[in-house]
Amino acid sequence: MEEFSLNSTVLRDIFHHAKPLGHHQEASKLNLGFGFIYYGVVRALRPKHTLVIGSGYGFSVVCLGLGIRDNGFGSLTFVDPSYSLLKDGPLKTVGGRGNWNDSESVQSHFQRFNVDQIVTHYRMCSDEFFQAYGKLRLPEIDVAFIDGAHDFKHVKHDFLEVLKQSRPNTYIFLHDSNIYIREMIRHAGVKRWLKMLQKNDKAFQVIDFPFSSGVALVRILEPTVWKELQQ
Ligand SMILES: C[S@@+](CC[C@H](N)C(=O)[O-])C[C@H]1O[C@@H](n2cnc3c(N)ncnc32)[C@H](O)[C@@H]1O
Repeated sequence: MEEFSLNSTVLRDIFHHAKPLGHHQEASKLNLGFGFIYYGVVRALRPKHTLVIGSGYGFSVVCLGLGIRDNGFGSLTFVDPSYSLLKDGPLKTVGGRGNWNDSESVQSHFQRFNVDQIVTHYRMCSDEFFQAYGKLRLPEIDVAFIDGAHDFKHVKHDFLEVLKQSRPNTYIFLHDSNIYIREMIRHAGVKRWLKMLQKNDKAFQVIDFPFSSGVALVRILEPTVWKELQQ
């Protein structure tokens, strides 16, 4: 019988090295919070191609990557320009730690979890990445996790670009659906964007988990609506 990933040692390593930020986790109980949902969705849906936009220490990448590893197939594309809150300031990132500057340390970070063969990192902003999507010859997206720049304009941009590469039954996570104050002062726009998606129930099914920083999961019914939403 195959050994699966989520034993206590791996859970401890995740807390230590892939540090969750706002995923309803509880370190003392080795409870990954939403991390179990990320892992579980990947196990249940068996995606061929998963995309992650933005991550501080790689928590989402590792949880999704371990699911892919345990499935025995699939790849994960990770896009992050490696902004750091200290160096680049709060308009570029909140929670960015500049961890993705050097390709060798990115590789060894993911090697610790045995997902380095699954994960390919692109050190670029999401707009650059999507402009290059065709050239990179990447396949359609089955599961996406959006956690890059959090202002409304960027959230909308990232969602629509993912949608263009989606098909019916692609699932898209949006992290930080419950950051009330940043949303109020318009520093974040995840909740606002979700409200717009919820109005279109022919194209989207939305479920929100408003605990800790919150995460929402959107099921795509009709990907071609990106044309209308882009206007
Ligand atoms: C740590 S995550 C999100 C943190 C936290 N969830 C929050 O409340 O902002 C932020 C990451 O997104 C990345 N990021 C920022 N802008 C981006 C963009 N335009 N495209 C891709 N990634 C971006 C940063 O480099 C950083 O590592």
